[in-house]
Amino acid sequence: MRSLQIETASLSYPVLIGGGIRKNAAELLSSLNLPMTKLLLITDEEVDIRYGEELFNLLQGRWPVKKVAVPSGEQAKSIDMYMKLQTEAIQFQLDRSSCILALGGGVVGDLAGFVASTFMRGIDYVQFPTTLLSHDSAVGGKVAINHPLGKNLIGAFHQPKAVIYDTECLATLPEKEMRSGMAEVIKHAFIHDESFVHDLLKIDSIESVTNEQLNEMVYKGISIKAAIVSKDEREEGIRAYLNFGHTLGHAVEAEYGYGDITHGDAVALGMQFALFVSEKVLNCPLDRRPISDWLQKLGYPGSVKQEISTEALISRMMNDKKTRGGVIQFVLLDRIGSVRLHSFKAEEIERWLNMWRLEGDE
Ligand SMILES: NC(=O)c1ccc[n+]([C@@H]2O[C@H](COP(=O)([O-])OP(=O)(O)OC[C@H]3O[C@@H](n4cnc5c(N)ncnc54)[C@H](O)[C@@H]3O)[C@@H](O)[C@H]2O)c1
Repeated sequence: MRSLQIETASLSYPVLIGGGIRKNAAELLSSLNLPMTKLLLITDEEVDIRYGEELFNLLQGRWPVKKVAVPSGEQAKSIDMYMKLQTEAIQFQLDRSSCILALGGGVVGDLAGFVASTFMRGIDYVQFPTTLLSHDSAVGGKVAINHPLGKNLIGAFHQPKAVIYDTECLATLPEKEMRSGMAEVIKHAFIHDESFVHDLLKIDSIESVTNEQLNEMVYKGISIKAAIVSKDEREEGIRAYLNFGHTLGHAVEAEYGYGDITHGDAVALGMQFALFVSEKVLNCPLDRRPISDWLQKLGYPGSVKQEISTEALISRMMNDKKTRGGVIQFVLLDRIGSVRLHSFKAEEIERWLNMWRLEGDE
């Protein structure tokens, strides 16, 4: 088992990473010395089948514990599900010294974390991530649910008390979800670590990734996120670097419709566009073509589908919660590991986007 300590202004907490560590969940939780008068284990139906009952049985007997499984997928991050979980928490008589456990991917982590951040003005929670993407979402304390008018619009900053990441759980993750999570690993590498990028570029296919490589990716990805979050917990500065690929990515995700494209596929598109803009605006010397070819070899899309108009994407970007004063903020690179934040007027981005899309059609 490897461990990392996340140091933020509000809290310091451990991230424990290893294959099979979920089987020691009771001991690991005890070692945190939290009051844990009661535990509410929140998971989703898909994860529940594989790991929910197992974790419940490991904890039962040591603590009063109740398990609730929400439907799998993004639609669970809703105000209705949030209310249902609050009701479960009240009926199970959680108190201020109780703890919520989030067992699942980014959806369960965000939802359960938001419940924990607001129940009785905030109680403890521990993340048990089960997707590759959640190496990103489980660390850093951003928790949220969606509003019908936009993703993650209702949320809070609430750091977990620990992250217990059993990488063995990734063995059952569908390839599509693995690819989605790997996009965030690639993002972490591009914004911070050139040698990590070169290691990743050697991967030929998602299926060929070994457990050892996976463990390394998770460890390095979390280390990079930890370094950034520890300097800027509430996204007032460099935490925005983590949005590399996300400005267009979020717009693509919203235009395709959530569920029609994974978050990671949308971010991979966004990173390819950000590299294009980096080349045009900052003279970034990176050879983009081999990177795009490699991403497409791994199964990521190389262009936005034709039926989605550039105007629609711009309009989405203008409505993004990170857009301020009518300017769209982009995370660019002047080389791997060297990030620049750049603000553009909508017309400028429209011009780059049209140019990039034409290049994809060549
Ligand atoms: N809080 C943050 O900082 C942050 C960062 C990035 C993304 N997010 C959020 O994360 C969410 C996406 O997370 P995700 O990609 O993990 O999606 P997810 O939680 O929906 O999981 C993807 C799918 O995989 C299934 N699954 C999970 N673990 C499994 C396993 N081990 N084996 C088999 N199936 C498994 C789930 O049931 C689901 O169907 C989005 O809502 C996004 O907004 C949050």
